Parts: sequence; structure tokens; C-alpha cells
Amino acid sequence: MINMALQRLSITLLLVLFMSLHSQASVESSNWKYAPNIGSVRAAYWPAGDDLSPSSIDTKYFTHIYYAFIQQDPQLFHLSVTEFDEKWIPKFINGLRYRYPPVKTLLSIGGGGSNSTAFSLMASNKHTRQVFINSTIHVARQYGFNGLDLDWEFPDDEHDMSNLGVLFQEWHQALVVEAKISRKPRLLLTAAVYYASTIKLIGDGPRSYPAQAIRNYLDWASPMCFDYHGTWDNFTGFNAALYDPKSNISTQYGIGSWIESGVPTQKLVMGLPLYGRAWALRDPNVNGVEAEAVGKATDTDGTMDYDEILVFNKENGATVVYDDVAVAFYSYAGTTWIGYDDGPSIKKKVQFARFTGLKGYFFWAVGKDKDWTISRQASNAWRH
Ligand SMILES: *[C@@H]1O[C@H](CO)[C@@H](O)[C@H](O)[C@H]1NC(C)=O
Ligand SMILES: *[C@@H]1O[C@H](CO)[C@@H](O)[C@H](O)[C@H]1NC(C)=O
Ligand SMILES: *[C@@H]1O[C@H](CO)[C@@H](O)[C@H](O)[C@H]1NC(C)=O
Ligand SMILES: *[C@@H]1O[C@H](CO)[C@@H](O)[C@H](O)[C@H]1NC(C)=O
Repeated sequence: MINMALQRLSITLLLVLFMSLHSQASVESSNWKYAPNIGSVRAAYWPAGDDLSPSSIDTKYFTHIYYAFIQQDPQLFHLSVTEFDEKWIPKFINGLRYRYPPVKTLLSIGGGGSNSTAFSLMASNKHTRQVFINSTIHVARQYGFNGLDLDWEFPDDEHDMSNLGVLFQEWHQALVVEAKISRKPRLLLTAAVYYASTIKLIGDGPRSYPAQAIRNYLDWASPMCFDYHGTWDNFTGFNAALYDPKSNISTQYGIGSWIESGVPTQKLVMGLPLYGRAWALRDPNVNGVEAEAVGKATDTDGTMDYDEILVFNKENGATVVYDDVAVAFYSYAGTTWIGYDDGPSIKKKVQFARFTGLKGYFFWAVGKDKDWTISRQASNAWRH
């Protein structure tokens, strides 16, 4: 049973889809084949210290690469450049500088394991916001980044959300002023955000992102359209379903909510996972979606990178199933069950992003497909 609100949202989205299909057709008929892609974003995060060295990233599949992550000092609120960062940031910047095709580099602050309380305190006070903002510009310029990205997971209440809006405004203003003074191109300002514009399923009450500040002051926001189901659930499910007829935990719902909140589609960059979620089944013979599970798959932390999943499937003769309702894959062998994405589902999601008129997509994380198989398919689906 689909409820009314969801139905309305689907209709809105269908309209958007239709309109952009239409405009794309007229653009192509006038021979401006690449016009829809001007200013578009094909991005990926590089986990600092990863085995994949930045100099071996194949830049033809990307426009922007993020260094993930730097942290702020939880007491003083300026960025704290650790010895680790001092080692890896120069490798990152030098590995990507002077590459063809060129990519832009962004310094991402925070991440999944970062200190949310420290962000909350920093954003709540004018002075600490200024300290933070000043230090982000300083570090970005010192190392030669093209932009800054905030990954605060997650603002906890409505105060955090409104302070986040003020932070974006002051940050943007500071970047504009700095660009004038330094006579350099303004640093980009972006943020990784929850898959939907209102956070409901985690933490305390529902709280909505400051859509107007995002529209006015960010170059784009990046909804993290993944982590929908994982081993915190005691049943199997998809990490990143595009559609879910039974719930609002889907990319279609999340992106639709961002559009309804008032953030223009041209300021949304949709997240795609190059990893899956791996459970241990209670009974190897009960192995569908929503099968009972008893925690993380053996020898995993509950996640597996895409390339590891392929190896697992092959070595264990896993059964692989494509779910064309969710637009996602799962595989199982013995008591291991993995929900993940492969080429065909990534391609459909990229087409969804393009036809919805979004600015682009990003991967967590770069190179986890090995040999660029998925990165290539995503890039092709975006461009053709
Ligand atoms: C997180 O930040 C808060 C507030 O600044 C601080 O009191 C706390 O010690 C920090 N936690 C960790 C683990 O650093
Ligand atoms: C801005 O940051 C620089 C470098 O970290 C520092 O020297 C300067 O004092 C800071 N200015 C303010 C107003 O915080
Ligand atoms: C699964 O989790 C739900 C909600 O936390 C709980 O009610 C249920 O008993 C759990 N089932 C099992 C088999 O642990
Ligand atoms: C889905 O979201 C809509 C609108 O945001 C809400 O009215 C509805 O109750 C939600 N449905 C479910 C199943 O949570």
C-alpha cells in the first residue's frame, strides 16, 4: 500500500524526470551533445592513507577528488593537521596536480567517525566559527586544494541545523573575500549530507537541513545515498536501494525530499557506494531480502568493498541476484549474505541522477572497483 504523500512525491519526481528528458532531447537535437554536462560533477572520496596511491587514480573518470578526512581540534576548533595529514596531504595534492584530464581537489572535514559534539559547539558561536573558517582557508591554501567540504555526521537537533546554515553563510562570505584579496579562484564549498533533507531515523527528533543556506552558499550538497540497511538491522537488506515500495528508505525518496526542500537539482550530487553490507544469516536456507540475520558476516566488520565482494562471490560460488525493484544486487553463500551494487545498478542510478537533472554523483570510495570497471560505466552512463 503506497500512501498519498509518497505517491505525490513520486509524481513530482516523475514530472521532473519527464521535463529533464524532454529538455535533454531538444538539446541533443541541436547538436549540443555535451551541454547538459557543463559544470557537472563526477567525484570520489579518497580515504587518506589508502593502498591506492593518488597518483594512480585514473582522472578521466572523475572531475573532483576529496581528501578524506581532516579533523578539527575539539577544544580550539581550528583544523588539526596531524603528522598523518602532513604525510598524506602532499602525496594527495602532488599525485593529482598536473594530471590530464585535470581534477579538482577538496579537503573534506569530519567523516563518519568524527566528533559531532565538537562540530555542534564550533557552529554555535560566532568566534569559534570564525576560528574554524579561518583555519580551513589557511590549510586549503597552504597545500593547494581547490575547495573545502564539510562532512558533519550528523547535526543532532534543530539548533545544530540552524547554526549550520549560519556557518555556511559566514564561510561562503569569507571565501569570497579571501578570493578577492588573494586574487585566486574562490575555494569551492560543499557538504556531505544525510540521504534525505530531514533526519528522522537516527538520533532524537526530526530535524531539517537549512535548505535555503545550502542553496545560497554551497556549490553543492552531496546526499549520502547509502547505509540504508546494515548489520545494525537483524535482517538482510540493501545498502542503497534506488526504490523501496514499502518504506521511505530509498534514494528516490531521499533525492525527492531534497528537491522538495528547495535545494535546486543543480546543487545536488548523489552518493553511490563502492561497498556493500555483509550479514551472517541465521539459517543458510532462508536467504532472501529481509531474511533473519545474526550480525556481521564472518571475517568482516559488516562491510565489504566491491572488489572484495567479487572475489568472495567467485571463491565461494555465491548465488547472485539482481533485484529490479530496488535496483540493487545481493549474493549469498553459506551463512554469508551481501547487499551491494554492481555495474547495472550503478548505471541505472547514474541515469536516475542525470534524468532528474542533478549536478552529478560521487563515490565512496575511489578505486574500490579495481581496474575502474564501475567508475568507467558510471562515467559513460553520465555522458551518453
Ligand atoms: C568531542 O568534542 C567534545 C566537545 O568539544 C569534547 O569534550 C570531547 O572530549 C571530544 N571527544 C573526543 C573523543 O575527542
Ligand atoms: C587565521 O589563521 C591563521 C593561520 O592559522 C592564524 O595565524 C591567524 O591568527 C588566524 N586569524 C584569526 C582571526 O583567527
Ligand atoms: C530484531 O530486532 C527487533 C527490533 O530491535 C526485535 O524486536 C526483534 O526481537 C529482533 N529479532 C531477533 C531475532 O533478534
Ligand atoms: C514517508 O514520507 C512521507 C513524507 O515525508 C510521510 O508522510 C510518510 O509517513 C512516510 N512514510 C513512511 C512509511 O514512513
